[in-house]
Amino acid sequence: MILSIESSCDDSSIAITEIKTNKLIYHKKISQELQHSLYGGVVPELAARLHVEALPKILEECKEYFPFLKAIAVTNAPGLSVTLMEGVTMAKALSISLNLPLIAVNHLKGHIYSLFIEKEEVLPMTILLVSGGHTQIIEANSLTDMKVIATTIDDSFGESFDKVSKMLHLGYPGGPVVQEYSLKGDVNRFELPIPLSQSPKIEFSYSGLKNAVRLHIEKLENSEDGITEQDKYDICASFQKTAVDHIMQKLKKQFKQKVPKNFAIVGGASANIYLRAQIDELCKKHNMGLYLSELKYCSDNAAMIGRVAVEQYKLKDFISIEEIDIQTRIKEF
Ligand code: KG4
Ligand code: ZN
Repeated sequence: MILSIESSCDDSSIAITEIKTNKLIYHKKISQELQHSLYGGVVPELAARLHVEALPKILEECKEYFPFLKAIAVTNAPGLSVTLMEGVTMAKALSISLNLPLIAVNHLKGHIYSLFIEKEEVLPMTILLVSGGHTQIIEANSLTDMKVIATTIDDSFGESFDKVSKMLHLGYPGGPVVQEYSLKGDVNRFELPIPLSQSPKIEFSYSGLKNAVRLHIEKLENSEDGITEQDKYDICASFQKTAVDHIMQKLKKQFKQKVPKNFAIVGGASANIYLRAQIDELCKKHNMGLYLSELKYCSDNAAMIGRVAVEQYKLKDFISIEEIDIQTRIKEF
């Protein structure tokens, strides 16, 4: 079995995965959403302190599996340096004290392998990764052969939901609440420009859309009646539609060049129902297989890190405690 640790942002999570079968033997995640919600976003130092509290508590529950462990895996990039540090420090300590090899896992590969938790891997695949930190189209041929073919030039898809939510004082994370508000809103009430719609390039941008939303909110707030709940529903609905339309426009452009056999959406924001429905329709039209991770594995978790670690274990892709480093960003896989 492999014990894996995830602490790249605001979720403290540990999993135990059986190497031979990919079976998830144990999995726990303690989310910090409530604590960060007060601030409208993740506060790195607070997140690090909460990991220090949560990770040892979870680890305590895993002790019975220690005799069966063959390796310790941990997310080392990308993420917040102060929070990654907590997971990596714990992994190093376990590696030394249990005399087990250490595996450094790329968090983005984790999101991709969330598709294969307790399953066999299905690659090659074209993947849309939408999270709080990333908006990318990735061509994944194998664990060690992945290429980013499109990315955002500023904010990410998930981040734009968080920012809209913050502007409307709806708390953090923004994705689920903006999606909920959208259900009661009119998608056509506010005219919002689809980002980069005239550009032939396949890339994403969300800062302009966020600013357009901000102007509408400010106008409503300064109006005689102030901003109403219905205004908020309509803002969320118009924003969500435009944010997803932007992705759809670029995907359609991409598929004009090459239609993949298999397509997947991963990352925390891949839970978005409207995005899933639009992509489902597009995949049916092109006869593509669509892969989605289970909703419980969309957001950050250690089960997906453990699933990658199983493959790295088979490749003997270990790292020494002196060599393992933390990277807040990574350009390429
Ligand atoms: O993958 P994740 O848990 O953390 C990162 O690696 O960033 O993704 C979290 C992001 C947040 O920005 C959150 O607002 C967004 O995913 N998210 C959503 C939805 N659920 C979560 N965005 C849009 N619609 C959703 N339903
Ligand atoms: Zn993530």
